[in-house]
Amino acid sequence: MAIDKKSRDYEVCPCRHVTRGQVEDIVRETRISDLKQLCEVANVGNKCGGCREMLMQIMDEVLAEA
Ligand code: FES
Repeated sequence: MAIDKKSRDYEVCPCRHVTRGQVEDIVRETRISDLKQLCEVANVGNKCGGCREMLMQIMDEVLAEA
């Protein structure tokens, strides 16, 4: 069974083995709102680039939290 994409355990970036939860925590801590910066800081999304759209989505969701 595939892991739900909304799960913290969902591996959003298989290239770097980074999970949604890890990205959420980094964005929460740093308030980064720039995809390029996030990729550098989290070492994510910088190989094939296929996860970048999802990274943007996660970033937007976290930043929209009250
Ligand atoms: S899946 Fe994230 S860089 Fe390839």
